[in-house]
Amino acid sequence: MTVAGPVRYDAVARTLHWVMAAAIMALWVVGHMIDALPKGPVRSEVIGLHKAIGVVLLVLAVARLAWRLARPQPPLPASMSAVERLMASAGHLALYLLMVLIPVDGVLMSQSGGREVSVFGLVLPTLVGKSDALKEIFKGGHEVLGWVLAAVLVGHVAAALRHRFILRDDVMDRMLPGR
Ligand code: HEM
Ligand code: HEM
Repeated sequence: MTVAGPVRYDAVARTLHWVMAAAIMALWVVGHMIDALPKGPVRSEVIGLHKAIGVVLLVLAVARLAWRLARPQPPLPASMSAVERLMASAGHLALYLLMVLIPVDGVLMSQSGGREVSVFGLVLPTLVGKSDALKEIFKGGHEVLGWVLAAVLVGHVAAALRHRFILRDDVMDRMLPGR
């Protein structure tokens, strides 16, 4: 007897995908606006929110990865070649890695810069002491990883649109909200 796998992502996976996609893209844009803000309370508030939401996204990324590993995934269409399957897996793996590495780097950047990370009042334990040299490394890392995320995301969105409008298979539909 063959047991049929799921035909689409479940509600948890779909909700996490779209909520996190919106929040990550917003953080990315806001991150680049920080430098343009004059020093003062507004800038501190924006940075504080960027950091707090970034840490929440880190927790969600770990939960999402656990959810994904614990449950069967909808199979890719049989029409996809081995190279296309490999690219999809590599792209998704890269996105999961970046969803973890970027916020971890952000926490280390803040703490090595001598700043605490407070998530809506909950102050995170110190993982790294103040160090100008480390701060520069983590700052560079945050920026470079942010650009790597943008590049992978362009490919990810292009692939999703190709499935929807050129190949016309169900890959986009199974990640979209609704039944
Ligand atoms: C920061 C933004 C985004 C991130 C981090 C992200 C991440 C991911 C990840 C990790 C997966 C694999 C899910 C899994 O198999 O566990 C996925 C699937 C998917 N994403 Fe995104 N995504 C983002 C934005 C978008 C956008 C803007 C679109 C649409 C234009 C999109 C369309 C899709 C689709 C259709 C799938 C399902 C692919 C499949 O069935 O194999 N994503 N996304
Ligand atoms: C998915 C989560 C995150 C994304 C996508 C993200 C993205 C970005 C981007 C694109 C920038 C602008 C480039 C740069 O200057 O590095 C930035 C700046 C910044 N991010 Fe994040 N970030 C995230 C999480 C975090 C976290 C968790 C923290 C700290 C707890 C953090 C702290 C900062 C700080 C302090 C800046 C300003 C750097 C400066 O200009 O001095 N970020 N972020």
